[in-house]
Amino acid sequence: MYKIAVIPGDGTGPEVVNEGLKVLQAAAKKFVFKYETKFFDFSGKRYLKTGQLVADSDIEELKKYSAIYLGAVGDPEVKPGIIETGVLLKLRFSLDQYINLRPVKLYNSAYCPLKDKKPEDIDFVVVRENSEGLYKGMGEFKDKGTKDEVAIQISYNTRKGVERCIRYAFECSRKRNKKKKLTLCGKTNVLTYAWDLWQRTFNEVAKDYPDITTDYAHVDATTMWFVKNPEWFDVIVTDNLFGDIITDLGAMIQGGMGIAAGGNINPQGVSMFEPIGGSAPKYTGKNVINPLAAICAVGMMLENLGEAQAAKAIEQAVIEVVNKKIKSLAAGKMGYSTAEVGDLVVERLK
Ligand code: IPM
Ligand code: MN
Repeated sequence: MYKIAVIPGDGTGPEVVNEGLKVLQAAAKKFVFKYETKFFDFSGKRYLKTGQLVADSDIEELKKYSAIYLGAVGDPEVKPGIIETGVLLKLRFSLDQYINLRPVKLYNSAYCPLKDKKPEDIDFVVVRENSEGLYKGMGEFKDKGTKDEVAIQISYNTRKGVERCIRYAFECSRKRNKKKKLTLCGKTNVLTYAWDLWQRTFNEVAKDYPDITTDYAHVDATTMWFVKNPEWFDVIVTDNLFGDIITDLGAMIQGGMGIAAGGNINPQGVSMFEPIGGSAPKYTGKNVINPLAAICAVGMMLENLGEAQAAKAIEQAVIEVVNKKIKSLAAGKMGYSTAEVGDLVVERLK
């Protein structure tokens, strides 16, 4: 019996989570597994009403679950930074979800903004370090508000943190069993402390994986290759901020935020799965947002729980819907409503 903590969140989060849960229910029936859900109302909405974010006691409660399924959090009425750090990053950090796994896979060349790229050309995974780096929140102001002000933001990288992330990425290349190639994406030419540690750790860990080809690309060049030669990539490992940036570009070349899902993974603990687009306030309540990213997140969650067959079937159903049914991956242009797209996936799972 899987215990799933559901956080619908803000904006279109609840709408897409609804569709994801429909698909989860259909998958459970077909592949014969049992689960129960409990809803948690962490959100910008709740913060505006009560001032509450995610408390340490909430974290203790969440540790009892098999997985967390998140829609999106963020409300335009709340000052930037509060919900991000108080909800999303609080969950990622406190549950030590040190991997942010973001597959970049094109399901239909018609939705790719790049000329002449086919599904087989865009099929890679970004392993983003999810607990350290510039996201650590370390730094200070000096002489704040004066003309001599200095703002310092520290990128904090530990050998243990870097190594566990790199090892995960090597394992991921092996498990994918495709090009068996791992690219370290960094900035060794300028960020000479952090990336020296990353490069040294990468080279050392690589010795344990003679079957995996290794490569290195600076982050700026990586964005260029994403556009020019995405077929070069198999698995990419990078730090928290670079991973954040390149996966937005990754989402675009796979067809947009409507299809991009990710997992915040603690291989020894509770992981959290989410569509990577935000709460999309302008589409809220219109039944036009694309739920496929949220549905793909359910697939990733099931894969992580060990329901590989169900995960595969969900992906197959999504591929069919993308190729045979909907007209676009963009909100309002799919030719179907949010709920109808969910139904299309469910029908194919039966
Ligand atoms: C993401 C988001 C978050 C991040 C924000 C909302 C804190 O952009 O999941 O990529 O920067 O990690
Ligand atoms: Mn981001």
